[in-house]
Amino acid sequence: MTKKTKGKEGQLSRREFLRDAGLVVGGATAVAMPLLAACDSPTTATTTATATTTVTVTTAPITTVTTIPTTTVTVTAPPTVDPPATASAISTIELTVNGLKRLVQIEPHQTLADMLRDTLGLTGTKVGCDRGACGACTVLVNGKPVLACMMLAIEAGETSVTTIEGLAVKGELSPLQQAVYDHTGYQCGFCTPGLIMEATALLAEKPQPTMEEMKAAFGGHICRCGAYYSFMESVTLAGGK
Ligand code: FES
Ligand code: FES
Repeated sequence: MTKKTKGKEGQLSRREFLRDAGLVVGGATAVAMPLLAACDSPTTATTTATATTTVTVTTAPITTVTTIPTTTVTVTAPPTVDPPATASAISTIELTVNGLKRLVQIEPHQTLADMLRDTLGLTGTKVGCDRGACGACTVLVNGKPVLACMMLAIEAGETSVTTIEGLAVKGELSPLQQAVYDHTGYQCGFCTPGLIMEATALLAEKPQPTMEEMKAAFGGHICRCGAYYSFMESVTLAGGK
């Protein structure tokens, strides 16, 4: 650019401005011309696309060989199921119940407790747990306390069984029954027949048992009401009578 001559300090004259502008435009045009010429020139685009796809198909030879192994199948017959109890499975036993000779038809699975309650109607014998854990079903077999839910009825053949119904004589409660009644040695009473049968056997052996002997004897009886002490006091009252 030419050196600027300023009419006034720091100012361009109109003529100087136009002259400088012409130089700038002329220079720019000189640079742009080759570019414009290039733009006007026909453009030849050569595109060569060669796509080559190679697909290799391998076909395996089909060989079908079927070998069927020989299998030995053993068919096991299902286990035989015992036929349900029929009339022919019913047995007849003879025993003494509360002093009376009885002929009783029983099924093989029946317990002594079931036979007393369901067949003979002696429902004073209670069934609490039905598995030998509570003592409610205690009866006397040949004078000894037995859990009737744990004894099969067929095992009671030729024995003498005493239940709570057999303790009263001619309508009179036994001394122990009377003492339990008088001293309120029970609450709900569900365990009481079993406890009375146990205590009857104990008193027959020890007319005046100690507290420790009673605790040992009644240990297998569960009283849900917790009437143990009033019951043992009743047994003490009945002792010796
Ligand atoms: S019912 Fe027999 S022991 Fe409980
Ligand atoms: S008095 Fe109720 S369970 Fe013994």
